[in-house]
Amino acid sequence: MAHPAPTARLRFREMTVADLDSMAMLLGDPEVMTYYDHPKSRAEALAWIEWNQRLYTERGFGLWTLELNDDGAFVGDCGLTPQEVEGTVEIEVGYHVRRALQGQGYGTEAAAACRDFARETLGLHRLIALIDPGNRASQRVAEKIGLTHERDTVRASGKLLRVYAAAL
Ligand SMILES: CC(C)(COP(=O)(O)OP(=O)(O)OC[C@H]1O[C@@H](n2cnc3c(N)ncnc32)[C@H](O)[C@@H]1OP(=O)(O)O)[C@@H](O)C(=O)NCCC(=O)NCCS
Repeated sequence: MAHPAPTARLRFREMTVADLDSMAMLLGDPEVMTYYDHPKSRAEALAWIEWNQRLYTERGFGLWTLELNDDGAFVGDCGLTPQEVEGTVEIEVGYHVRRALQGQGYGTEAAAACRDFARETLGLHRLIALIDPGNRASQRVAEKIGLTHERDTVRASGKLLRVYAAAL
């Protein structure tokens, strides 16, 4: 199964149920989940892993587990997922870095590798990120990998999100 090649500091691999403790810690952290409806329970973290496993099979990509090259420490997840935006299925780059490792450039390094994988391996011509207007860290990651604020969209939940996008 293809995934982005290792970067200077990070490596990608498929998420498995063996990642449940790490993923439940990441997605259960209220700070990491500030811009989501609520922090995820352990059962919801398991559903997240299973969703990505379905994506690997059905689409050949998903969010991957992100680890440090040096010692294999869990960093978070990053990858590509299909998202419906106003009736069109778009491919989104997504990223979550555990709190202790934020602010060291890992989010940007991982997202850039996923952008390159989308272009070079998957042959995609467009990449988006759907971001809460208050989520500056995520907006900066998107901007630093070349996405710009294209428009806003209102989700089925009524929530307004910014559409960041780039032609690849
Ligand atoms: C978004 C996220 C993945 C960024 O990861 P990271 O490894 O800390 O990002 P980087 O270190 O590469 O920093 C990227 C930029 O964000 C900025 N940034 C980081 N935290 C910030 C904050 N709280 N407020 C404003 N800017 C912030 C950094 O300064 C940097 O910009 P700069 O180069 O202009 O200084 C991380 O904050 C995170 O996991 N957030 C919670 C999950 C989330 O919201 N995911 C995105 C959903 S759309």
